[in-house]
Amino acid sequence: MRQIRFENVTKSFDGELILNKLNLTIPAGQFFALLGPSGCGKTTLLRLLAGFETVDSGKIYLGDQDITYEPIYKRKINTVFQQYALFPHLSVFENVAYSLRLKKLKENVILEKVNDVLKTVRLLGFQSKSINSLSGGQQQRVALARAIVSEPDVLLLDEPLAALDPRLKEKVLIDLINLQDKLKTTFLYVTHDQFEALTVADQMSILNLEGNIEQMGTPKEIYEFPASKFVASFVGSTNFLEGVLRVQDDKMLVEVEELGRFFVFTPIKKDWLIPGCRLFMGIRPEKIFISKKEITEFSNHLVGKVNNIIYYGRSTQYDVRLRNGKMLTVFEQNEEHFPQQEIDYYDQVNLYFQKENVTLLDH
Ligand SMILES: Nc1ncnc2c1ncn2[C@@H]1O[C@H](COP(=O)(O)OP(=O)(O)OP(=O)(O)O)[C@@H](O)[C@H]1O
Ligand SMILES: [Mg+2]
Repeated sequence: MRQIRFENVTKSFDGELILNKLNLTIPAGQFFALLGPSGCGKTTLLRLLAGFETVDSGKIYLGDQDITYEPIYKRKINTVFQQYALFPHLSVFENVAYSLRLKKLKENVILEKVNDVLKTVRLLGFQSKSINSLSGGQQQRVALARAIVSEPDVLLLDEPLAALDPRLKEKVLIDLINLQDKLKTTFLYVTHDQFEALTVADQMSILNLEGNIEQMGTPKEIYEFPASKFVASFVGSTNFLEGVLRVQDDKMLVEVEELGRFFVFTPIKKDWLIPGCRLFMGIRPEKIFISKKEITEFSNHLVGKVNNIIYYGRSTQYDVRLRNGKMLTVFEQNEEHFPQQEIDYYDQVNLYFQKENVTLLDH
């Protein structure tokens, strides 16, 4: 198994720069997710890797092998596209068998291989069905079976669940995780849906609209320690409060105009973090505790007025207007019910957060 490496890859279309000296290493045998906003160049990156497009400059390696200009058929890379592009006039079996027939394998070998993968994707018994008689989720599994039957080194998945409804999506995501676990093939999964990326990935990276990788790490690292304002707001949601960094008795504080001083803490050293610098505090909505009562065990305290309440069933969102006019979003899990703490529109509330739950982000 071999890792994939993009080295200074640049690609433009009609004079517009899409990927700009992009560097990215995808470890072998992992479930890797590439996440980024629509139009940032994710599909382009996959097409370069599969050989459907060529780079303007830079190199692509599979292990030590330079595959930048390798023809498509020589790369052991298969793709599952958003539109599954199955052959509607062929049966499930023949759709999966197609690439094996092109290779002129013996009939008994084809039979064994196809039945093997159909079992893997839980479609045994569907061999003779026509594609049109299958549900969206079943078609998706045929597309997967067709892509893995030729045992590629790398499987590229370009938003493969876009056509599925949310409930089925969750199920198929778990199927995909189990499949990768079993095959140990490198999966490169491309999506603009942060939920999908966080769910499936061993590691993930974020591609920005400038055509660069903004951050790479495990889903937890990316979520807990976003490296930039872009990542913090693209992966999950984040409240930003702008201020100036101060140091007092060896403790770090951020001074926010009209709101006061807040204790902050960061385990990660950053060059730009020097006293007096302007920065943003990033605070996840679920890390803020909302209460009508005053409590003392938190590092930081704010007051505000409830402007909006959205009930989601398992959680409730409160939008709270602060003294400086800024709105903070708070998520509260609806796990317990305290009637004495019922919070209503226009109530004055206390907001609490711990210094460890503040991410310090470059201005
Ligand atoms: N063959 C092409 N010719 C001209 N422009 C193209 C071509 N392919 C892609 N582009 C442009 O390159 C940019 C990136 O496209 P790409 O399909 O890679 O985005 P994406 O990140 O996959 O977006 P999405 O999440 O919407 O699928 C877009 O502005 C697109 O219009
Ligand atoms: Mg795309």
